[in-house]
Order: sequence, then C-alpha cells, then structure tokens
Amino acid sequence: MPLMQLACPVCSELLQLCNEERTLRCAAGHSFDRAKQGYWNLLLVQSKRSKDPGDNPEMVQSRTRFLDGQFYRPVLERICQTLDDALPKSAVIADLGCGEGYYTTGLRQHRLDNGYEDTILGLDISKHAVKSAAKRDKRITWSVGSSARIPVPGASLDVALIIFSKVLSEELERALKPGALLLIAYPGPRHLMSLRELIYEEVRDNDSDPAKQLSDAFKLEQTLSEPFDIELEGNQQISDLLAMTPHGQRMQSAKRDEILQRQQLRTEVDIRLGLFRYQPENSSE
Ligand SMILES: C[S@@+](CC[C@H](N)C(=O)[O-])C[C@H]1O[C@@H](n2cnc3c(N)ncnc32)[C@H](O)[C@@H]1O
Ligand SMILES: [Zn+2]
Repeated sequence: MPLMQLACPVCSELLQLCNEERTLRCAAGHSFDRAKQGYWNLLLVQSKRSKDPGDNPEMVQSRTRFLDGQFYRPVLERICQTLDDALPKSAVIADLGCGEGYYTTGLRQHRLDNGYEDTILGLDISKHAVKSAAKRDKRITWSVGSSARIPVPGASLDVALIIFSKVLSEELERALKPGALLLIAYPGPRHLMSLRELIYEEVRDNDSDPAKQLSDAFKLEQTLSEPFDIELEGNQQISDLLAMTPHGQRMQSAKRDEILQRQQLRTEVDIRLGLFRYQPENSSE
C-alpha cells in the first residue's frame, strides 16, 4: 500500500514518519503522534471553532448504523462507477469530511476488487468520526483535520471526494493536481422529501448546487441524479436518519417524538453527484 504523503498543518513542510512510525515530524520540528486507534490528529487548536468540532459521538453512531444498513448503497456504487471511468490505475484520493468512513472504505474495497491500489486519506474535523473510521480499514490514512487546511502538499491529489460536507474552493485549488477530479455528493431537490414533509409545515426545495461555491477553475463534467426510495422499519432506523440530517438535528423534541411514533417510513433519496475537473488557466491538461 503506497503511503499517503502528508504535510505539516503548521508550516506546510512534508511530514516524515519516525519513532517506529508512531510520530510524524516536519523539518521545522513540528511533530504529531499517532493515536492508538491508528489515526493522526492534524487539527490545530486555532483551526477549531469549538472545543469538540464536527459530528458528536451520537451522530457518528447513528450514521454508522444507518449506512451499514446499506440504505445509501446505490450512492456508494454510483460514486465507484463514476470514478472507475475517470481514475488513473493508482490514484491519490482524499475524502474530505469523510465522517465514519463508509464511503472511503467502500471505494477502496471496490478499487481493490478491480485490481487497483490507491493511496487514500480520510479527513474529518470530528475526532469521534475519525476514531470510528479508523476501525473500518487500517490501510487508509485517517486524520482529524479541516478541509480548510487539507494536510497534504500542494498539487498532490488526483481526486477529492466531498460527500455532504464543506466545499472550500481555494484550498481545493491548492491541494489538487491540475487536471484532477473533484466529486461532490449533495442533496437534490427531492432528497428525503417525505421525511421533510413530516418535519416542516412548508417544505422548501434544497438548493445546494456546489458549482456556486467553486471558482471558474472547476469545470463541471457531469451531474448524476438517480433518485430512489428507501423504506425504514422501526424507530431506531428513523431516529438514526433524523440524527444524520440537519433537519433532524434542528427539530423540536415534540416533533421528533411524534415522528418516532411511526413504525415505518418510506422516503425519497435524491443525492446528486457533480463531477468536476480542476483546470486552472495556466494548465494545459
Ligand atoms: C453530513 S456529514 C457527512 C460524512 C460522510 N461524508 C458521509 O456522507 O457519511 C459531514 C461531515 O463533515 C465534517 N466536517 C464539518 N466541517 C468540516 C471541516 N471544516 N473539515 C472537515 N470535516 C468537516 C463533520 O464532522 C461530518 O463528519
Ligand atoms: Zn511544520
């Protein structure tokens, strides 16, 4: 497995493994120890807006239960297929805002099944999410860190994946190789419509077109949209889905109790994939 080349979040110098691979150190002497679960913590205190940023342990557990229930499996499969046609044989990939690692590990497994060995970084600002992700696959490089300061050298990524997470154009431009791909998964207008109708009096269409957050250097190659329905049984599955969505996280507890009275819920999954190519003006690729 090729090693992911990481860069120091303080000074951007390359990080080298030392101390029997338990520490990463840059030439300027900044050093970071590997957590016992195998991940790195490259999130600087000054990059944190709160003491414990990102998803909390309950949100992470709900997400794991829900995703391992394979309700979003078609989305993972579509991500894999989309990248199959576009990726080099051995790519350097970063999953930014990787959460508890369902898609990161799913993609790696798919690529291995097809005979490709990539170098993969799973990055998330939530320590709880990364700790959980690190249990899924030891051969992925997992790191706590921010998408606002991706701990990799400039122009080093062949692909960045952003699945329901922050799109920060400037930092993507620094980290991606010219000609690299950016795959963004985001909610389409009908995503979880039946669930949202239970939550809100008036349901507004989602408007999260990622192109609006990207500079002109990102050229849209294709948008994929194949909505499907999921059927949830029992209140654990329904409460897990609520915990994963901003709608569920914001709602009042009386409303939550009312929804959790239900034993079944059928709802739409309308997750769009936008595939962009990073083509800065001065690149010929
Ligand atoms: C909706 S979850 C999606 C997780 C995963 N991609 C998935 O689809 O299962 C959003 C994730 O983004 C993370 N996050 C939020 N802000 C971030 C940032 N600035 N840098 C990196 N991760 C961030 C959260 O901790 C959370 O795990
Ligand atoms: Zn440094």
